[in-house]
Amino acid sequence: MKTPKSVFTCSECGHTTSKWYGKCPSCGAWNTMEEGEPIVETQVSAAARSIKRLAPEYESEVVRFDELELPDFIRSTTGMGELDRVLGGGLVHGSVVLLAGEPGIGKSTLLLQISSSLCEPTGSGERKVLYVSGEESQGQLKLRAKRLGVTGKSLYVLTESNVSRIIPQIDKLHPDVVIVDSIQTMFDEHIASAPGSVTQVRETALAFISKAKNEGVSVIMVGHVNKEGGIAGPKVLEHMVDAVLYFEGEKLRSYRIIRAIKNRFGSTNEIGMFEMSDCGLEEVTNPSEALLEGRPKGVSGNCAVCVMEGTRPIIAEVQALVAQTSYPSPRRTSNGIDYNRMCLILAVLEKRLGYRFSVNDAYLNVIGGLHIDEPAADLAVAMSLISSIRDEPVADDLIAIGEIGLAGECRAVQNFEQRVSEAVRLGFRRIIVPARNLNRRPLSFDGAELIPVKSIFDKIDVSPKD
Ligand SMILES: Nc1ncnc2c1ncn2[C@@H]1O[C@H](COP(=O)(O)OP(=O)(O)O)[C@@H](O)[C@H]1O
Ligand SMILES: [Mg+2]
Repeated sequence: MKTPKSVFTCSECGHTTSKWYGKCPSCGAWNTMEEGEPIVETQVSAAARSIKRLAPEYESEVVRFDELELPDFIRSTTGMGELDRVLGGGLVHGSVVLLAGEPGIGKSTLLLQISSSLCEPTGSGERKVLYVSGEESQGQLKLRAKRLGVTGKSLYVLTESNVSRIIPQIDKLHPDVVIVDSIQTMFDEHIASAPGSVTQVRETALAFISKAKNEGVSVIMVGHVNKEGGIAGPKVLEHMVDAVLYFEGEKLRSYRIIRAIKNRFGSTNEIGMFEMSDCGLEEVTNPSEALLEGRPKGVSGNCAVCVMEGTRPIIAEVQALVAQTSYPSPRRTSNGIDYNRMCLILAVLEKRLGYRFSVNDAYLNVIGGLHIDEPAADLAVAMSLISSIRDEPVADDLIAIGEIGLAGECRAVQNFEQRVSEAVRLGFRRIIVPARNLNRRPLSFDGAELIPVKSIFDKIDVSPKD
């Protein structure tokens, strides 16, 4: 049989073909087929070796379900409550976490900061952390550690990217936590392709994962994101790990938000908030206050909203700018709110209330880099749009909570009381709420006025009162 001259591998799913395709026949991604060397024997044997690494030495046995023992997940605190919350209450021993984010967002900073807390002895004695960096030199790491004030007698550093040299060091040191910065720089010398390629990322990740699963070492891997915002390398990487955390934020602003998109040991609804400073990342334990800080007062197009991020209510501000368009079709830009949701609300307001949004450009923004994906923000979005088109400000002490339906009706929201009490805590005096949530409850809450609305046709005075 003739061996093919080269193979094309999809950088998303790892599917290989002998001919080039614009669209991957397996996962359907566009422009991801990359030309590479044909699979040679060393590669096959490397893959076989890594499977061998995973295979346990004992014989497999079948267990009856009710004889299974309840596992005792031991968690260690990372020293940062915000990160612990996203992880589901701390780092589970023996788990594998992938931390992804854009360059410069603060992944290395965060991991170096938590590594000293992870060294703190727990009930079972001293704990060792090994920080493997394939990106920075020892000098750079020391400099950063000095700036962040990180010390730790049981924190070890290894600047190496060849896994065949890293694994023996892990075996020698027996660390409790291994931090891999980053998985895209790691390579296995037995594989012909370049670091960061699908095969390399998969094989090197597998080597660390087998350490975690067989020996109970917790592994935190840094993953780069590609231009589209996905984790670079094979999609399978996300399926191989226990938790995938995304670190996001705006480059020019100091707030950073960490969220879980997969977590085998906790909920994926929680977010953690940090602020980047010279001394590293600081936790923002009161996100609402931080997000509302310095909000413009008495300006049209602004409206406060309360959304649930996991178990926590967070108050943010929605800003809208509606201006006459000079394009054949009006422009719509949305930052922090789902684009389709914005279009839906614009359509409802145009059809039901007769506002002429179709001849106006509309821009929406959520202050502080928060991404709102909750329908409970609809009412605030609608109010900010109307406030902007009419150029009449919404009162600063007013906040709106509620979902809008296609007929213009205002639907009830979940976690009503939590949202209202957070709004009251932050000093809002007038709270617009769905009438269905209120039922027969009193029209005030801790001194704040609750204004029930049935639909967007209700006439409410939202202007500032002196
Ligand atoms: N004095 C400083 N020196 C270097 N970086 C700083 C300093 N103060 C703040 N930073 C921040 O640290 C960030 C670098 O974070 P880093 O952890 O290296 O990111 P990542 O590992 O995600 O690429 C910079 O983008 C910058 O915002
Ligand atoms: Mg880094």
